[in-house]
Amino acid sequence: MNPMHALDATHGEELVMPTARLRDRSIPAETAYQLVHDELMLDGNARLNLATFVTTWMEEPARRLMAECAEKNMIDKDEYPQTAELERRCVAILADLWQAPVPDDAIGCSTTGSSEACMLGGLALKRRWRNVRRAAGRPDGRPNLVMGANVQVCWEKFCNYFEVEARVVPLSAERLHLGAPEAAARCDENTIGVVAVLGSTFDGSYEPVEAIAGALDDLEAATGLDVPIHVDGASGAMVAPFIDEETVWDFRLARVASINTSGHKYGLVYPGVGWVVWRDRAALPEELVFDVSYLGGNMATFALNFSRPGAQVVAQYFTFLRLGFAGFRAVHQASRDVATRLAGEISRLGPFALVTRGDELPVFAFTTGRDVSAFDVYDVSRRLRERGWLVPAYGFPAEREDLHVLRVVVRNGFSEDLASLFLEDLSRLLPELARQREPLGRPEAPAFHH
Ligand SMILES: Cc1ncc(COP(=O)(O)O)c(C=O)c1O
Repeated sequence: MNPMHALDATHGEELVMPTARLRDRSIPAETAYQLVHDELMLDGNARLNLATFVTTWMEEPARRLMAECAEKNMIDKDEYPQTAELERRCVAILADLWQAPVPDDAIGCSTTGSSEACMLGGLALKRRWRNVRRAAGRPDGRPNLVMGANVQVCWEKFCNYFEVEARVVPLSAERLHLGAPEAAARCDENTIGVVAVLGSTFDGSYEPVEAIAGALDDLEAATGLDVPIHVDGASGAMVAPFIDEETVWDFRLARVASINTSGHKYGLVYPGVGWVVWRDRAALPEELVFDVSYLGGNMATFALNFSRPGAQVVAQYFTFLRLGFAGFRAVHQASRDVATRLAGEISRLGPFALVTRGDELPVFAFTTGRDVSAFDVYDVSRRLRERGWLVPAYGFPAEREDLHVLRVVVRNGFSEDLASLFLEDLSRLLPELARQREPLGRPEAPAFHH
């Protein structure tokens, strides 16, 4: 410990940072602050973290507002009715953005992130399916959910925790996410729904939600099976409405029962806030909804958590108010411009081949060309870290385990200038990497988790 702190803080006692057991005595708040602050210097620099989808920069007024709301508990609707009202407005704004046919009928809530939102979406699908099965006097013991092998781990969790069979569609040589005919082919009378991802965590590509809905329409015409879709729009549901208006993926498709997104990804809010919206009350069985007291009356809630921070919900509303449609469009278009330019320049460096181009989510994946044998994507990731850049390297899931990539997530705050510096650093590494005799080997434990 710095002796300057020790003079005031410890009264001559040696201060050892507690790692497993509380210290007996207290220390001054400023000293505690400095010690914790200093340890955190070992964390990576969030702004240079090209691995995360999560917001790493917000404007000062947003941060001020969040600090002002730090003590507000989202669940105390009666005590903080205006925070509850801002949550309600955010749900209404999202239902409108996602083109709910009758916005007043759409129902939704905030969550801690997309994982919780996906659990709620999955639970509603399961309960709706069970109710239909019971009403028809059919067995309801073996529900399944159809998804691509590229889904985020939250869907594996959902299936595990809530005892639903995960019907995972493997990838193929030319298809790196869920395809429409493949999804429909896996459905049967026990299918509670199909998860379509906008866009894929592995490479930023949009799954073809409209085509999947079309294939399920055909399935219904042929067999009578009515299989709903949940769109996991963790990232894309906050991007596509602003810069991909012609892509039809949302409630315009009658088969889309529910949509989730992460406010803390392209919703431009610090972690953790997510959202889930159902197209109408029929899509969310009413027995899943609980009432909490609110302004002397009752307010419907559906959530796994009870207490959670109000600050992020307030910040989401701030962001909607601050940016408006035009602002979101400008911010996301700028990220896409950076992503597509950077992807193009990386493809021209020579040793790399693009897997995606950053023209759907502002995210792209690239791999080493066939003729590169001196190094691999893991070497590139390791060497970029020396300059502070955090770029994950990882393998694709079944049946594309042969494909190993680096992925760059461009977010607001990753400017053209930072992208140029990144490109310079990457180019500078290449001669040295080319002099390696062979790749240095993959990390033993996967360093990056989806
Ligand atoms: C497609 C997709 N779904 C769900 C999640 C989980 O989101 P969260 O981190 O908000 O829980 C992610 C996170 O990257 C994702 O990309």
